[in-house]
Amino acid sequence: MRTYYIAGNWKMHMTIPEARSLAKELAGELKGCRHKIMIAPPFTALAAVAEICKKSGILLGAQNMCTEESGAHTGEISVLMLKDLGVDVVILGHSERRHVYGEKDSDINKKVLLALKHGLDVILCVGETLEEREAGKALEISRNQLISGLAGVSEKAMKSVTIAYEPVWAIGTGKTATPEDANEVHADIRACLKDLYSESLAASVTIQYGGSVKPSNARGLMEMEHLDGALVGGASLKAETFVPIALFDA
Ligand code: 13P
Repeated sequence: MRTYYIAGNWKMHMTIPEARSLAKELAGELKGCRHKIMIAPPFTALAAVAEICKKSGILLGAQNMCTEESGAHTGEISVLMLKDLGVDVVILGHSERRHVYGEKDSDINKKVLLALKHGLDVILCVGETLEEREAGKALEISRNQLISGLAGVSEKAMKSVTIAYEPVWAIGTGKTATPEDANEVHADIRACLKDLYSESLAASVTIQYGGSVKPSNARGLMEMEHLDGALVGGASLKAETFVPIALFDA
């Protein structure tokens, strides 16, 4: 039985006081929540919300990290620095990293392996652009990103990996994939995990959906067989929109 996993990706929003205040509000309102919850503030606010997360049981996430452990990488953040701050999980391969900052599958795979080596959990994001969907390549793109991102990851290490299917055309656009469309890709991701690992592993992996998730559509999405949670952007920036998503009743 998979546990629902609702994560908030704050992207490049929130000053330190704003982040602290939202984290406190969420900690209060999500007390006793049955689902697994994570928030990923910007790097600058990780330290400020770490203690609040620890006390409340909300997992602390980072939005990215460097491919290397240390060295001459001006402006980068290392896995060791994230560990220092008490980070539990790192989002890797987000479409904004892939398409705006040109991250390649090989970079993402390096990061996945490094994060797992150091005991961080990983949310690996995959998903197609509108052009790719219209060309009938939605399943192929997600499969390829999945296979490349997980190269060298053992079945045992997969316990620490969550997959997030985020169709690029649905991110920040207000367009959500229909529950059926999302479920089709999620089912294919699970089938791919079965090919790569085993049936039992595939059945145990949490697959989140991301792309314009809001209180009004969360339940319909989560009811689908292969949707096990959400990676929420815009709606995670306010307690009044994130809390109802996090508390949805299956
Ligand atoms: P939105 O919920 O704003 O569409 O963002 C989704 C996302 O990119 C989460 O990582």
